[in-house]
Amino acid sequence: MRARDFDLVLFGASGFTGRLVAEVLHAWRSGGGALRWALAGRDPARLAAVRDALSAGEALPLLWADARDAAALARLAARTRAILSTVGPYQLHGEPLVTACAHAGTDYVDLCGEPLWMARMIRQLQAPAQSSGARIVFSCGFDSIPFDLGVVFLQHAARERLGAPLAEVHATVRAMKGGFSGGTAASLLATMEAVARDPALARTLDDPFALTPGFRGPPQPDGDAAAWDELVGCWSGPFVMAPINTKNVHRSNALRGHPWGRDFRYVERMGTGAGAAGRAGALALARASRWQRRLLAVAPTRALIRRWLLPRWARGRTAPRASPAATRSRSPAAAPTAPCCAPACAASATPATGRPAGSSRTARWRCCTRSTAR
Ligand SMILES: NC(=O)c1ccc[n+]([C@@H]2O[C@H](COP(=O)([O-])OP(=O)(O)OC[C@H]3O[C@@H](n4cnc5c(N)ncnc54)[C@H](OP(=O)(O)O)[C@@H]3O)[C@@H](O)[C@H]2O)c1
Repeated sequence: MRARDFDLVLFGASGFTGRLVAEVLHAWRSGGGALRWALAGRDPARLAAVRDALSAGEALPLLWADARDAAALARLAARTRAILSTVGPYQLHGEPLVTACAHAGTDYVDLCGEPLWMARMIRQLQAPAQSSGARIVFSCGFDSIPFDLGVVFLQHAARERLGAPLAEVHATVRAMKGGFSGGTAASLLATMEAVARDPALARTLDDPFALTPGFRGPPQPDGDAAAWDELVGCWSGPFVMAPINTKNVHRSNALRGHPWGRDFRYVERMGTGAGAAGRAGALALARASRWQRRLLAVAPTRALIRRWLLPRWARGRTAPRASPAATRSRSPAAAPTAPCCAPACAASATPATGRPAGSSRTARWRCCTRSTAR
């Protein structure tokens, strides 16, 4: 590969999430991290304001490209080893950039939570990315990483402690703080609008194997109903990110050659506690989820959200900092010594039946992650 000017370009540095990412990268770089990086976006003045806010000076280059300008994006992709894009909704703005990266052999990372677009990009770009060597990684945001990597770590622990991967993993979020950013809300609306235009796409949204073309696993546990989770010891209902994360978890298994088995099952839910209050909370969640789907399926609701709520969420972009959100997790799993701390979200795990040593055991694993608001 020809030498490239940068290790990493942050595209969309002027957005809500982009500025948070820029702060973290700048702090890491200032602490001695070795990284040749640049900020990129469509608006020079906004990018300069981000750089000023970081007090980064001219040593941090600014690069300009519009997300619709394929030629400019091809030039950008050729200059760097990797691009991290926070320019969403990706189904509206993402295709030219990820296409440029796939063809240029440039690694690409985003925060996408839009499975319809991801499924289409995988179909279109798998072959060129494989031939150029570009690694394309969707969904590297707070919404997905704790779950995707949580399962990876859990399965590592299971192999070490039980001698075999777990056949089924349940992830249950116990507590979560923070709200939608403007870009996240716009992405959800864009997805619902795509389904309204082509109702057949609803099948892709509902399909846990939508991101593993050529592979279908077994039927998956029902994540939509209110239910008592015996292992975790709490009631739970549907979790908003589950339709995205289940697909990512199955894709991670498939891309690794199914180390957790071709019969692997995964479910992700929101815990609501024990007792009558927990049960009422779980039933309310299940009802709210059904209503949210019905309401977002009709154009007037989406128009109202677009008209009244999106501008308010988008204004959050100018807030100095989102209040920190916390998702904590606890899980009956295979690691008696916890990697970290507080009991609040949970994953429960069923060892693979018919697999060796300790397979009737459920052990416990706790972890927590902190993040800024979505
Ligand atoms: N998975 C997660 O955990 C997670 C968390 C947060 C966000 N997200 C996703 O990240 C994405 C961004 O969210 P956000 O709230 O940060 O959005 P945002 O504040 O609206 O920022 C969007 C960014 O895209 C840029 N942009 C828009 N149109 C462009 C174009 N034509 N050319 C170049 N740049 C363009 C904007 O530039 P200007 O400043 O010039 O307008 C801005 O920098 C969304 O898709 C959201 O769903 C995911």
